[in-house]
Amino acid sequence: MNRRALLTSLAVAPLIAGCRRSAVASTPRGGLPPLRTITPGAFGTCVQVANLTDPAWLDLARTHVSQLTPEWEMKMEYILADGLDRLRLDRTDRIARFAADNGMALHGHTLIWYSQGQEAFAGLDNAAFDRAFDGYIATVAGHYRGKVQSWDVVNEPILDDGSGLRDCHWSRRYGQDGYIRRAFDEARIADPEAVLFLNEYNLEGVPAKGAQFLRLVERLLKAGCPLQGLGTQSHLWIDIPDGQIAAFMHELAQFGLPIHVSELDVSLRTDSALDLRGQQYRLSLQTARVTELAEVYMRLPAAQRFAFTTWGLRDTDSWYRRDDKDDGKDRPLPFDAAGQPNPMARALATAFQT
Ligand code: G3I
Repeated sequence: MNRRALLTSLAVAPLIAGCRRSAVASTPRGGLPPLRTITPGAFGTCVQVANLTDPAWLDLARTHVSQLTPEWEMKMEYILADGLDRLRLDRTDRIARFAADNGMALHGHTLIWYSQGQEAFAGLDNAAFDRAFDGYIATVAGHYRGKVQSWDVVNEPILDDGSGLRDCHWSRRYGQDGYIRRAFDEARIADPEAVLFLNEYNLEGVPAKGAQFLRLVERLLKAGCPLQGLGTQSHLWIDIPDGQIAAFMHELAQFGLPIHVSELDVSLRTDSALDLRGQQYRLSLQTARVTELAEVYMRLPAAQRFAFTTWGLRDTDSWYRRDDKDDGKDRPLPFDAAGQPNPMARALATAFQT
């Protein structure tokens, strides 16, 4: 059987299996078992307040999801929109209440990110900057103590090409490793129980970036930083070479820490305008990437399988479908616009049940 036929059969095999399962077990629509019941750790997705008044999203989330990550309203862009003296926690309070009312864990995202906070912190002298930095973490992580079970304390510290760490307003004050260590120390004080994560993207697709991340983790742990979990966002692309995803996960697992696949999506888009490959073939490549990721997650020790989070549930919930390059045809997520399982959902279910 050639590679294309094999991948196609992989894509349809769960359909057949699903039909058998639906004939046997009472599983929700599409013959898919609730992903939260078959995913080791938790099955998560991102959420914004607008989702909480969408009955179709609520139905899908209550069926499949056991952990939520605020997509943007727990970031400085929303919380500090009125300045450092008037933190806006109204929307994340609503999300926290929904999570608690629906038996879902809440993963905080994110306290310190290179790409936000510049305006609110601009013009502060060093003493004021330090008070604001420490105070922000103390206030936000303190406010959600007991409601947020884990935090992305620092998000995306590595340069895209993996050549080093980003310079930003935080590193200019405290140094590149320094701001990360300070953020984790302050988060530990604010919430002694939450699991504290470092979160990054493209670690599987850009080996140099993955290697730089592993070196940073090693330095932080050796320095006594209270880093307790590693988030690999897994915004994968369909042409990552076979085996590269699994190879990185094996390296990541060496630290023995809980691993969060924290933002999985796989866009069918590629950079090449001349890419004439059809959607079915792209979906078969997507299925291969997702299967490799889920299978290597399954091979982790149970204590390291923290959660498997997709960055949205339905294709139309995806940030990919909101940007100006969107052609309305991308299918980066587990479910289609109507909430029916995409090949991604079936690939996940197959891997999690093997
Ligand atoms: O909903 C408001 C709308 O009411 C308003 O009119 C509009 C214009 O201001 O903004 C809308 O909110 C936007 C929100 O996405 C919802 O679409 C925010 O401006 C926009 O900043 C926000 O972007 C988010 C982005 O992070 C920056 O926070 C994306 O949703 C979110 O998917 C993206 O997620 C990141 C992760 O945090 C880190 N990893 C990469 C990932 C994708 O970029």
